[in-house]
Amino acid sequence: MLLVLSSSLHPTSRSRILAKATHQRLVQQGRQCHFFDLAETPLPPCDGATAYGHENVADLAQRIRDAEAVLIASPVYNYDVNAAIKNAVELTGKAWTGKVVGLMLAAGGAGSYMSAMGLANSLMLDFRCLIVPRFIYATGESFEGNSLADDSISDRVDLLIRETLTISDALLAQPSDEASDDT
Ligand SMILES: Cc1cc2nc3c(=O)[nH]c(=O)nc-3n(C[C@H](O)[C@H](O)[C@H](O)COP(=O)(O)O)c2cc1C
Repeated sequence: MLLVLSSSLHPTSRSRILAKATHQRLVQQGRQCHFFDLAETPLPPCDGATAYGHENVADLAQRIRDAEAVLIASPVYNYDVNAAIKNAVELTGKAWTGKVVGLMLAAGGAGSYMSAMGLANSLMLDFRCLIVPRFIYATGESFEGNSLADDSISDRVDLLIRETLTISDALLAQPSDEASDDT
């Protein structure tokens, strides 16, 4: 199982176009893939207490646990991912343990291209995620209405999918190491 997680809350989001194109391609390739849109299934703000019990949080946490790989699509806000995906990670915490994670960002300008690194670092350090070393960073010219604009961005989506699956399929083929320590 795979999961595409779209975090933009904007009604005509560009990162959601990336997320939908990714989900569509994975389904076309015969992969089982959930699509989770934080704009459609809102999560409560993480309070470190009662919010963990919210049914949408439990739903997302289970989809993350079920996934070999998670492909996150996020807007760039203030040289970072948006607050919604940070909140989602805060709420779902250990469900991320050991996941392969691919990242797609939609941005207003070319200069914020390192904006995924805070999220990538926290997923690596907190939950030992394997971050696919190939990000999509897309600005306005990559989109045309509700679609990807051209072969260039389309090829970049294909490449991220291919590299994500190469890693997650290889890990899935390994016998699990029950005895690994936690150091
Ligand atoms: C609050 C806010 C902060 C933003 N900060 C940045 C930024 O730091 N760098 C950048 O390139 N674009 C920035 N943008 C532009 C968005 O990244 C751009 O509109 C992008 O398309 C948003 O993704 P979405 O369409 O999926 O919602 C910002 C937009 C908003 C609303």
